[in-house]
Amino acid sequence: MSETSLATVPGRLQSSQVCAHRGASGHYPENTQVAFDAAAALGAGWIETDVQQLADGELVIFHDETLGRTARGEGDIREMTWPEVAVLDVGSWKRSEFAGERPIRPNALMAWQAAAPDRPTIIWEIKCDDGYPTAAQRIAGALAAEIEAHPGHRCVVSSFNREALTAIRPLLPTTPMALIVEALPTDAVSFCREQGLEGLHLDGHQLDANSAQRILSAGLALRCYTINSETEAMRLLEMGVEVIMTDFPERFLTALDP
Ligand code: G3P
Ligand code: CA
Repeated sequence: MSETSLATVPGRLQSSQVCAHRGASGHYPENTQVAFDAAAALGAGWIETDVQQLADGELVIFHDETLGRTARGEGDIREMTWPEVAVLDVGSWKRSEFAGERPIRPNALMAWQAAAPDRPTIIWEIKCDDGYPTAAQRIAGALAAEIEAHPGHRCVVSSFNREALTAIRPLLPTTPMALIVEALPTDAVSFCREQGLEGLHLDGHQLDANSAQRILSAGLALRCYTINSETEAMRLLEMGVEVIMTDFPERFLTALDP
């Protein structure tokens, strides 16, 4: 067993190393208040969550482009308005006891963080299709306005969509921002440097030591999704990954039995 194995570390990982992906989504309905509350109660230092823009311009925390998996119905959520989305049941797909969970907007999560000093830092993932620069600018402007309206909000703004990052970067000059990729593309580090981004978020299963070294030697923060196994987490931490995003924060934060 490695000296740094999770099993030998009292208290296991540090809170600052663990990000609850879509909240504590392994056991709670993803991207809901109950999943965020559970993440905080478990001691996760971070929460990752997805933000989309609706037809009326409102922002909503929701992963999929369409209804069907986490909410009954069909169709593109981005073609709906907030009053239509606000009444969706986004809990009962996970378990019937969560039937009361409704979608929430980013401003609610920002207010929740501000309500107590130890609440997790938020990783906002802007969901936006590539090739629609006007849509990217629109969602960037809306999220930037929400963050500006919450002074002291602790977050990282991230996206796969480079147009969205390019649009939001100048609007929030002091907010950390990160590009999300799967495997590391050859131009990702230079894009981050040119745009003034502070980090790269990679699919941890596709990260190798050479890519990790390229990212770290450029002075970028390195965070990985979506890591649910201890073995994979240890492989990544040993390569210098600073945060793992996981559906099961309890696996990494709950002390082992003596
Ligand atoms: O933020 C990184 C990760 O969440 C991207 O994948 O599909 O879970 O949003 P996805
Ligand atoms: Ca995400």
